[in-house]
Amino acid sequence: MPELDLPQRQTTDRLMLTGFWYRAVPADRVHRNQLHKATLLEIPLVIGRDREGRPFALRDTCPHRGMPLNSGKFDGENLECPYHGWQFDVHNGQCQLIPSLTSDQTMKVDRIYAGSYPCEEQDNFIWVYIADPGPQGAGFAKPAEAPDPAPQIEKFSEKYKLAYLQAEMPVSIDHGIIGLMDPAHGPFVHQAWWWRTRHSIHEKRKNFEPIPNGFRMAAHTPSSNSAPYKLLRLYADADSISTTIDFVLPNIRTETIRAGKYWFSSLTTVTPITRTHCRIDVVAAWNLFRWVPFVPGLLKFVFAKFVEQDRRTMEMQAEGLKHNPHLMLIDDADRPAKWYFQLKAAHLESKRTGREMKHPMDGPATLKWRS
Ligand code: FES
Ligand SMILES: [Fe+2]
Repeated sequence: MPELDLPQRQTTDRLMLTGFWYRAVPADRVHRNQLHKATLLEIPLVIGRDREGRPFALRDTCPHRGMPLNSGKFDGENLECPYHGWQFDVHNGQCQLIPSLTSDQTMKVDRIYAGSYPCEEQDNFIWVYIADPGPQGAGFAKPAEAPDPAPQIEKFSEKYKLAYLQAEMPVSIDHGIIGLMDPAHGPFVHQAWWWRTRHSIHEKRKNFEPIPNGFRMAAHTPSSNSAPYKLLRLYADADSISTTIDFVLPNIRTETIRAGKYWFSSLTTVTPITRTHCRIDVVAAWNLFRWVPFVPGLLKFVFAKFVEQDRRTMEMQAEGLKHNPHLMLIDDADRPAKWYFQLKAAHLESKRTGREMKHPMDGPATLKWRS
Protein backbone atom coordinates (compact mmCIF):
# COMPACT_ATOMS: atom_id res chain seq x y z
CA MET A 1 0.00 0.00 0.00
CA PRO A 2 1.62 3.30 -0.98
CA GLU A 3 2.19 5.79 1.72
CA LEU A 4 1.12 9.37 1.52
CA ASP A 5 3.92 11.83 1.80
CA LEU A 6 3.13 14.59 4.23
CA PRO A 7 3.94 18.13 3.14
CA GLN A 8 6.46 18.44 5.95
CA ARG A 9 8.50 15.75 4.24
CA GLN A 10 8.22 17.20 0.73
CA THR A 11 10.16 19.99 -0.89
CA THR A 12 7.97 22.92 -1.92
CA ASP A 13 8.53 22.35 -5.62
CA ARG A 14 7.36 18.77 -5.35
CA LEU A 15 4.34 19.85 -3.34
CA MET A 16 3.33 22.98 -5.27
CA LEU A 17 3.73 22.87 -9.04
CA THR A 18 5.06 25.88 -10.90
CA GLY A 19 4.47 26.58 -14.58
CA PHE A 20 0.68 26.87 -14.22
CA TRP A 21 -2.07 29.45 -13.85
CA TYR A 22 -3.57 29.85 -10.38
CA ARG A 23 -6.61 31.71 -9.14
CA ALA A 24 -5.43 34.57 -6.95
CA VAL A 25 -8.40 36.73 -5.89
CA PRO A 26 -12.04 37.21 -6.82
CA ALA A 27 -12.10 39.98 -9.41
CA ASP A 28 -14.69 42.06 -7.57
CA ARG A 29 -12.35 42.53 -4.60
CA VAL A 30 -9.72 44.39 -6.60
CA HIS A 31 -10.60 47.93 -7.63
CA ARG A 32 -8.99 50.44 -9.95
CA ASN A 33 -5.91 52.20 -8.60
CA GLN A 34 -5.89 49.87 -5.61
CA LEU A 35 -3.51 47.28 -4.24
CA HIS A 36 -4.42 43.95 -2.73
CA LYS A 37 -2.17 41.47 -0.92
CA ALA A 38 -2.26 37.78 -1.85
CA THR A 39 -0.10 34.70 -1.39
CA LEU A 40 0.28 31.90 -3.93
CA LEU A 41 2.69 28.97 -3.53
CA GLU A 42 4.32 30.81 -0.61
CA ILE A 43 5.04 33.76 -2.90
CA PRO A 44 3.90 37.11 -1.50
CA LEU A 45 2.09 39.08 -4.19
CA VAL A 46 0.62 42.50 -4.59
CA ILE A 47 -2.29 42.47 -7.00
CA GLY A 48 -4.03 45.52 -8.34
CA ARG A 49 -5.68 47.23 -11.27
CA ASP A 50 -4.25 50.11 -13.24
CA ARG A 51 -6.33 53.16 -14.02
CA GLU A 52 -7.87 51.39 -17.03
CA GLY A 53 -8.91 48.52 -14.79
CA ARG A 54 -6.36 46.08 -16.20
CA PRO A 55 -5.14 43.69 -13.47
CA PHE A 56 -1.49 43.10 -12.62
CA ALA A 57 0.51 40.99 -10.17
CA LEU A 58 3.91 41.83 -8.74
CA ARG A 59 6.02 40.07 -6.17
CA ASP A 60 5.40 41.95 -2.97
CA THR A 61 9.10 42.53 -2.44
CA CYS A 62 11.15 45.46 -3.63
CA PRO A 63 14.22 44.22 -5.55
CA HIS A 64 16.31 46.89 -3.76
CA ARG A 65 16.13 45.86 -0.11
CA GLY A 66 13.07 43.68 0.13
CA MET A 67 10.47 46.17 1.31
CA PRO A 68 6.89 44.96 0.74
CA LEU A 69 5.48 47.03 -2.10
CA ASN A 70 1.84 46.78 -1.03
CA SER A 71 2.15 49.79 1.27
CA GLY A 72 3.75 51.87 -1.48
CA LYS A 73 2.20 54.72 -3.41
CA PHE A 74 0.32 53.74 -6.55
CA ASP A 75 -0.74 56.29 -9.14
CA GLY A 76 -2.61 53.87 -11.41
CA GLU A 77 0.48 53.22 -13.52
CA ASN A 78 3.63 53.02 -11.44
CA LEU A 79 4.14 51.73 -7.95
CA GLU A 80 6.55 53.56 -5.65
CA CYS A 81 8.40 51.64 -2.94
CA PRO A 82 7.83 53.24 0.47
CA TYR A 83 11.49 52.84 1.53
CA HIS A 84 13.61 54.72 -1.06
CA GLY A 85 10.99 55.64 -3.60
CA TRP A 86 12.08 53.43 -6.49
CA GLN A 87 9.26 53.28 -9.01
CA PHE A 88 8.13 50.25 -10.98
CA ASP A 89 5.84 49.78 -13.95
CA VAL A 90 3.10 47.53 -12.52
CA HIS A 91 2.61 45.48 -15.69
CA ASN A 92 6.14 44.29 -16.25
CA GLY A 93 7.89 45.29 -13.03
CA GLN A 94 10.47 47.40 -14.87
CA CYS A 95 12.11 50.07 -12.74
CA GLN A 96 11.29 53.58 -13.92
CA LEU A 97 13.03 55.76 -11.39
CA ILE A 98 15.63 55.68 -8.63
CA PRO A 99 15.28 59.05 -6.90
CA SER A 100 18.69 58.93 -5.18
CA LEU A 101 20.65 58.93 -8.46
CA THR A 102 22.38 62.18 -9.34
CA SER A 103 22.37 63.47 -12.92
CA ASP A 104 25.93 62.25 -13.60
CA GLN A 105 25.30 58.74 -12.25
CA THR A 106 24.62 56.58 -15.26
CA MET A 107 23.16 53.47 -13.68
CA LYS A 108 20.76 51.76 -16.09
CA VAL A 109 17.55 51.91 -14.09
CA ASP A 110 15.51 50.10 -16.75
CA ARG A 111 17.57 46.96 -16.36
CA ILE A 112 16.11 46.43 -12.90
CA TYR A 113 12.85 44.58 -12.48
CA ALA A 114 10.53 43.88 -9.59
CA GLY A 115 9.17 40.33 -9.90
CA SER A 116 6.13 40.45 -12.16
CA TYR A 117 3.65 37.72 -13.08
CA PRO A 118 1.34 37.28 -16.08
CA CYS A 119 -2.13 38.15 -14.91
CA GLU A 120 -5.60 37.64 -16.46
CA GLU A 121 -9.18 38.14 -15.48
CA GLN A 122 -11.41 35.18 -16.26
CA ASP A 123 -14.86 34.18 -14.99
CA ASN A 124 -14.88 36.50 -11.97
CA PHE A 125 -11.34 35.72 -10.87
CA ILE A 126 -7.92 37.24 -11.28
CA TRP A 127 -5.56 34.47 -12.34
CA VAL A 128 -1.81 34.64 -11.97
CA TYR A 129 0.69 32.55 -13.90
CA ILE A 130 3.41 31.22 -11.62
CA ALA A 131 6.36 30.45 -13.85
CA ASP A 132 9.12 28.03 -12.95
CA PRO A 133 11.61 29.85 -10.78
CA GLY A 134 14.26 31.57 -12.87
CA PRO A 135 17.95 31.61 -12.06
CA GLN A 136 18.87 33.29 -8.78
CA GLY A 137 20.11 36.85 -8.98
CA ALA A 138 16.63 38.27 -9.27
CA GLY A 139 16.26 41.94 -9.83
CA PHE A 140 17.36 41.80 -13.45
CA ALA A 141 14.97 39.14 -14.73
CA LYS A 142 12.26 40.16 -17.15
CA PRO A 143 8.83 38.72 -16.43
CA ALA A 144 8.05 35.24 -17.79
CA GLU A 145 5.35 34.76 -20.37
CA ALA A 146 2.47 32.32 -19.96
CA PRO A 147 2.34 29.69 -22.70
CA ASP A 148 -1.49 29.53 -22.66
CA PRO A 149 -4.33 31.76 -21.56
CA ALA A 150 -5.84 31.19 -18.09
CA PRO A 151 -8.38 28.35 -17.84
CA GLN A 152 -12.01 29.14 -18.56
CA ILE A 153 -15.33 27.64 -17.62
CA GLU A 154 -16.94 25.90 -20.56
CA LYS A 155 -20.18 27.59 -21.55
CA PHE A 156 -22.78 26.31 -23.94
CA SER A 157 -24.99 29.34 -24.54
CA GLU A 158 -24.59 33.07 -24.82
CA LYS A 159 -26.57 33.94 -21.73
CA TYR A 160 -25.75 32.45 -18.39
CA LYS A 161 -25.32 33.16 -14.72
CA LEU A 162 -22.06 32.99 -12.87
CA ALA A 163 -21.36 32.65 -9.15
CA TYR A 164 -18.41 31.77 -6.98
CA LEU A 165 -17.64 30.75 -3.47
CA GLN A 166 -14.43 30.04 -1.66
CA ALA A 167 -13.08 28.60 1.55
CA GLU A 168 -9.63 28.42 3.09
CA MET A 169 -8.42 25.17 4.53
CA PRO A 170 -5.51 24.56 6.89
CA VAL A 171 -4.16 21.59 4.93
CA SER A 172 -1.62 21.18 2.14
CA ILE A 173 -2.65 21.34 -1.49
CA ASP A 174 -2.39 17.54 -1.71
CA HIS A 175 -4.90 16.94 1.06
CA GLY A 176 -7.14 19.64 -0.36
CA ILE A 177 -7.15 18.00 -3.77
CA ILE A 178 -7.56 14.41 -2.74
CA GLY A 179 -10.33 15.52 -0.39
CA LEU A 180 -12.05 17.09 -3.36
CA MET A 181 -11.88 13.96 -5.51
CA ASP A 182 -12.55 11.51 -2.71
CA PRO A 183 -15.85 9.67 -3.34
CA ALA A 184 -16.09 7.87 0.00
CA HIS A 185 -16.54 10.80 2.39
CA GLY A 186 -19.90 11.91 0.96
CA PRO A 187 -22.26 9.95 3.18
CA PHE A 188 -20.33 10.89 6.31
CA VAL A 189 -19.42 14.51 5.69
CA HIS A 190 -22.23 15.69 3.46
CA GLN A 191 -25.22 14.43 5.38
CA ALA A 192 -28.38 16.46 5.63
CA TRP A 193 -32.01 15.47 6.00
CA TRP A 194 -32.89 17.15 2.71
CA TRP A 195 -29.98 15.58 0.93
CA ARG A 196 -28.98 12.11 1.96
CA THR A 197 -28.21 10.05 5.00
CA ARG A 198 -25.60 7.41 5.57
CA HIS A 199 -28.32 4.81 5.01
CA SER A 200 -28.43 5.75 1.35
CA ILE A 201 -24.99 4.21 0.78
CA HIS A 202 -24.94 1.89 -2.19
CA GLU A 203 -22.46 0.34 -4.55
CA LYS A 204 -21.27 2.49 -7.43
CA ARG A 205 -19.32 1.76 -10.54
CA LYS A 206 -17.77 4.57 -12.57
CA ASN A 207 -15.73 4.59 -15.73
CA PHE A 208 -12.59 6.68 -15.92
CA GLU A 209 -10.29 7.42 -18.79
CA PRO A 210 -6.96 9.19 -19.18
CA ILE A 211 -6.95 12.71 -20.65
CA PRO A 212 -3.90 14.95 -21.13
CA ASN A 213 -2.53 15.85 -17.67
CA GLY A 214 -5.45 14.21 -15.91
CA PHE A 215 -8.40 11.86 -15.94
CA ARG A 216 -12.08 11.96 -16.75
CA MET A 217 -15.05 10.35 -15.16
CA ALA A 218 -16.75 9.53 -18.43
CA ALA A 219 -20.01 11.09 -19.52
CA HIS A 220 -22.76 9.12 -17.88
CA THR A 221 -26.24 9.46 -16.60
CA PRO A 222 -25.36 10.50 -13.10
CA SER A 223 -26.34 8.81 -9.91
CA SER A 224 -28.11 11.12 -7.54
CA ASN A 225 -25.09 12.61 -5.80
CA SER A 226 -24.74 16.03 -7.30
CA ALA A 227 -26.66 19.12 -6.31
CA PRO A 228 -27.30 20.61 -9.75
CA TYR A 229 -28.28 17.18 -10.95
CA LYS A 230 -31.15 17.02 -8.50
CA LEU A 231 -32.37 20.38 -9.72
CA LEU A 232 -31.93 19.42 -13.38
CA ARG A 233 -34.20 16.45 -12.84
CA LEU A 234 -37.01 18.97 -12.56
CA TYR A 235 -36.30 20.00 -16.14
CA ALA A 236 -35.38 16.85 -18.01
CA ASP A 237 -35.68 13.08 -18.04
CA ALA A 238 -33.07 11.27 -16.04
CA ASP A 239 -31.66 9.52 -19.09
CA SER A 240 -31.25 12.68 -21.15
CA ILE A 241 -28.90 14.10 -18.52
CA SER A 242 -25.20 13.51 -18.87
CA THR A 243 -22.36 14.64 -16.71
CA THR A 244 -18.59 14.67 -17.13
CA ILE A 245 -16.08 15.32 -14.40
CA ASP A 246 -12.44 16.02 -15.28
CA PHE A 247 -9.42 16.52 -13.14
CA VAL A 248 -6.31 18.06 -14.65
CA LEU A 249 -3.03 19.15 -13.14
CA PRO A 250 -2.20 21.12 -11.21
CA ASN A 251 -5.50 21.59 -9.38
CA ILE A 252 -8.52 21.83 -11.66
CA ARG A 253 -11.77 19.94 -11.41
CA THR A 254 -14.40 20.69 -14.00
CA GLU A 255 -17.90 19.35 -13.98
CA THR A 256 -20.27 19.67 -16.91
CA ILE A 257 -23.89 18.63 -16.75
CA ARG A 258 -26.04 18.87 -19.85
CA ALA A 259 -29.72 18.21 -20.34
CA GLY A 260 -30.83 19.24 -23.80
CA LYS A 261 -30.38 22.98 -24.08
CA TYR A 262 -29.83 23.39 -20.37
CA TRP A 263 -26.42 23.13 -18.86
CA PHE A 264 -24.46 23.62 -15.68
CA SER A 265 -20.71 23.93 -15.64
CA SER A 266 -18.25 24.44 -12.83
CA LEU A 267 -14.54 24.95 -12.51
CA THR A 268 -13.19 24.26 -9.07
CA THR A 269 -9.59 24.86 -8.08
CA VAL A 270 -7.63 24.10 -4.96
CA THR A 271 -4.88 26.67 -4.74
CA PRO A 272 -1.73 26.26 -2.70
CA ILE A 273 -1.27 29.31 -0.47
CA THR A 274 1.52 27.97 1.70
CA ARG A 275 2.74 24.44 2.20
CA THR A 276 0.16 23.94 4.94
CA HIS A 277 -2.74 26.01 3.64
CA CYS A 278 -4.88 25.89 0.55
CA ARG A 279 -8.01 27.58 -0.71
CA ILE A 280 -10.88 26.08 -2.62
CA ASP A 281 -12.65 28.24 -5.20
CA VAL A 282 -15.78 27.01 -6.89
CA VAL A 283 -17.02 29.02 -9.86
CA ALA A 284 -20.19 27.82 -11.53
CA ALA A 285 -21.99 28.92 -14.66
CA TRP A 286 -25.44 27.81 -15.76
CA ASN A 287 -28.25 28.73 -18.08
CA LEU A 288 -31.14 27.12 -16.25
CA PHE A 289 -33.34 28.96 -13.77
CA ARG A 290 -31.90 32.24 -14.95
CA TRP A 291 -35.35 33.71 -14.87
CA VAL A 292 -36.44 32.08 -11.61
CA PRO A 293 -35.31 34.53 -8.98
CA PHE A 294 -34.56 32.33 -6.02
CA VAL A 295 -33.01 29.24 -7.64
CA PRO A 296 -29.48 30.67 -8.16
CA GLY A 297 -29.55 31.55 -4.47
CA LEU A 298 -30.64 28.04 -3.63
CA LEU A 299 -27.89 26.55 -5.77
CA LYS A 300 -25.34 28.74 -4.06
CA PHE A 301 -26.75 27.75 -0.68
CA VAL A 302 -26.36 24.05 -1.47
CA PHE A 303 -22.80 24.53 -2.72
CA ALA A 304 -21.85 26.72 0.20
CA LYS A 305 -23.13 24.04 2.55
CA PHE A 306 -20.95 21.42 0.83
CA VAL A 307 -17.86 23.56 0.79
CA GLU A 308 -18.34 24.46 4.44
CA GLN A 309 -18.71 20.79 5.38
CA ASP A 310 -15.47 20.01 3.54
CA ARG A 311 -13.72 22.96 5.14
CA ARG A 312 -14.75 21.93 8.63
CA THR A 313 -13.66 18.34 7.98
CA MET A 314 -10.24 19.41 6.77
CA GLU A 315 -9.84 21.72 9.74
CA MET A 316 -10.32 18.70 11.99
CA GLN A 317 -8.06 16.57 9.78
CA ALA A 318 -5.32 19.18 10.12
CA GLU A 319 -5.32 18.51 13.89
CA GLY A 320 -4.56 14.87 13.23
CA LEU A 321 -1.94 15.63 10.60
CA LYS A 322 0.03 17.80 13.03
CA HIS A 323 1.51 14.68 14.55
CA ASN A 324 2.95 13.41 11.30
CA PRO A 325 0.99 10.15 11.13
CA HIS A 326 1.48 7.35 8.62
CA LEU A 327 -1.34 7.39 6.09
CA MET A 328 -2.66 5.08 3.42
CA LEU A 329 -4.65 5.05 0.21
CA ILE A 330 -6.93 2.10 -0.54
CA ASP A 331 -8.46 0.67 -3.71
CA ASP A 332 -10.78 1.52 -5.34
CA ALA A 333 -12.07 4.51 -3.41
CA ASP A 334 -8.68 6.22 -3.21
CA ARG A 335 -7.58 5.32 -6.74
CA PRO A 336 -8.26 8.86 -8.07
CA ALA A 337 -5.99 10.14 -5.29
CA LYS A 338 -3.30 7.67 -6.39
CA TRP A 339 -3.66 8.86 -9.97
CA TYR A 340 -3.25 12.42 -8.77
CA PHE A 341 0.05 11.62 -7.06
CA GLN A 342 1.21 9.58 -10.07
CA LEU A 343 0.30 12.39 -12.47
CA LYS A 344 2.24 14.84 -10.38
CA ALA A 345 5.26 12.55 -10.27
CA ALA A 346 5.05 11.92 -14.04
CA HIS A 347 4.79 15.65 -14.70
CA LEU A 348 7.86 16.41 -12.58
CA GLU A 349 9.77 13.56 -14.17
CA SER A 350 9.00 14.85 -17.67
CA LYS A 351 10.15 18.31 -16.65
CA ARG A 352 13.34 16.89 -15.24
CA THR A 353 14.18 14.79 -18.27
CA GLY A 354 12.63 16.94 -21.00
CA ARG A 355 10.85 13.84 -22.28
CA GLU A 356 7.13 13.63 -22.97
CA MET A 357 5.03 12.98 -19.88
CA LYS A 358 4.16 9.33 -19.41
CA HIS A 359 0.53 9.09 -18.32
CA PRO A 360 0.11 6.82 -15.31
CA MET A 361 -3.13 5.28 -16.66
CA ASP A 362 -2.64 2.88 -19.54
CA GLY A 363 -6.28 3.03 -20.62
CA PRO A 364 -9.84 3.30 -19.35
CA ALA A 365 -10.55 1.91 -15.90
CA THR A 366 -13.68 1.06 -13.96
CA LEU A 367 -13.70 1.78 -10.26
CA LYS A 368 -16.14 0.42 -7.73
CA TRP A 369 -16.93 1.71 -4.28
CA ARG A 370 -19.81 2.17 -1.88
CA SER A 371 -20.93 5.67 -1.09
S1 FES B 1 13.71 48.93 -0.53
FE1 FES B 1 12.47 49.61 -2.11
S2 FES B 1 13.42 51.39 -2.79
FE2 FES B 1 14.75 50.63 -1.32
FE1 LIG C 1 -16.72 16.96 -0.05
